[in-house]
Amino acid sequence: MEKLKNVELKDKLVLDAGTGACGMTKFLEKRGAEVVSIDIDEDILKGCRYQTEEVQFFRADLSDLKFLRSNTFDHVICNFLMSALSQNKDLIISTVIREFYRVLKDSGTLAIIDYYPFKDTKNPAELDEVQVELWRLENASFELIGEGHLEEISPEKLNKELKELGFHDIETLDLTKEVHWPTDLLRSHEQTVKENINRLEDQRMKEAFENRLEYIMKSAEESKVFSGGIYEIRAYK
Ligand SMILES: C[S@@+](CC[C@H](N)C(=O)[O-])C[C@H]1O[C@@H](n2cnc3c(N)ncnc32)[C@H](O)[C@@H]1O
Repeated sequence: MEKLKNVELKDKLVLDAGTGACGMTKFLEKRGAEVVSIDIDEDILKGCRYQTEEVQFFRADLSDLKFLRSNTFDHVICNFLMSALSQNKDLIISTVIREFYRVLKDSGTLAIIDYYPFKDTKNPAELDEVQVELWRLENASFELIGEGHLEEISPEKLNKELKELGFHDIETLDLTKEVHWPTDLLRSHEQTVKENINRLEDQRMKEAFENRLEYIMKSAEESKVFSGGIYEIRAYK
């Protein structure tokens, strides 16, 4: 399944929450939306500004959007934002979602696309073992070099949070099967792990990571790798 299927974007006012690599901002602009794109990191925004034409960018913390009026947006889209809210996670998730609720028009849509690579009876997304192993190794390597990590949040927890904050008709879709990981994407993750390994000082730790990476990449060559555990939640104000 593709992202944001059947979400009417043309001429709609859309908040792209967490600009990041600019992928979603460009996608929304191409589909004719009027886009406001927000990220906490000014360097990220600099990189994105020259890739788009009409988008309005703001540097801000999504847990405090008082410069935006209430009841304004048709849609708020979070493409891999939730798992990046890793500091003060529990506090921030509800404050961020509360702000989204406030800035959405009545009957506006919140769409949350994210990653949850755990087997869980209430998780609709299927997992690809190779992809999950590589993801975990990469996260662990970031943690070891002290550069933070992502915290995946279960769709079930988000559903509960959304309901408590007043959203209704909440549905969770599994996007996994259609999202194939091409070789160059696998290689770019392999490269990231290698760079992190090179920054480790402990020789035995280095070797353990190298061996694990080699094993995972060998498994990847032997099978088609899919993006494990991607879900999309839609919720309405
Ligand atoms: C994985 S990226 C998002 C990818 C992007 N949506 C895309 O489609 O390419 C997550 C982004 O969320 C931003 N972010 C994390 N916490 C934030 C916060 N509290 N307020 C605003 N942006 C935040 C990070 O700076 C990062 O750029």
